[in-house]
Amino acid sequence: MDSKYEFVLVFSTLLYAGHGQDFGYDGNNGPNHWGEKYQHCVGKHQSPINIEEHNVRQVQLPSMVFQNFNQTPKAFALKNNGHTVITTMETDKKPVVTGGPLASDYEFVQLHFHWGANDDEGSENTINNNSFPLELHMVFYDKDYGSFEEAIEHPDGLTVLSILFSIERAARTWVVCLKPTYTGREE
Ligand SMILES: *[C@@H]1O[C@H](CO)[C@@H](O)[C@H](O)[C@H]1NC(C)=O
Repeated sequence: MDSKYEFVLVFSTLLYAGHGQDFGYDGNNGPNHWGEKYQHCVGKHQSPINIEEHNVRQVQLPSMVFQNFNQTPKAFALKNNGHTVITTMETDKKPVVTGGPLASDYEFVQLHFHWGANDDEGSENTINNNSFPLELHMVFYDKDYGSFEEAIEHPDGLTVLSILFSIERAARTWVVCLKPTYTGREE
């Protein structure tokens, strides 16, 4: 495939909507309070994550492997769950991500978006405290756990591929288009 995305792999136990609907992003339901209701959200592996560039260490990892990412879905569902738009799809072969820091095969479950009220905010995760207007999360579960429901009970059960978008105004036409902020290779 030609399309290029670079991504931030967020190893987090995602707050799965099925666990409860009473979390939010501000006030008493905000991220600072998630740990009170959702034990998995305590600690360093939760989102939101603020990546501070000066704390980033370069590490050598095997290549990421993306399988079945170019499958055309047979069916496609878009759902407003009250927090976000969630997309699930039916495919002959589910997309699977492995390699890199991942110890096993993670199979695609759903994707959803985080966005904000204006162009300066919206992403769940930040880089150097900077928000992005849109963040795409692709959620995968570790196939070794047999099911998504089982996987969410384990700290390494899910992997979330996060793509942060920035807005670029084309110089002459003033068309606003979204482009992935980071670029990398899909194999
Ligand atoms: C991000 O915000 C925190 C808390 O205000 C601050 O300590 C830190 O220095 C900021 N990081 C950057 C890169 O500006």
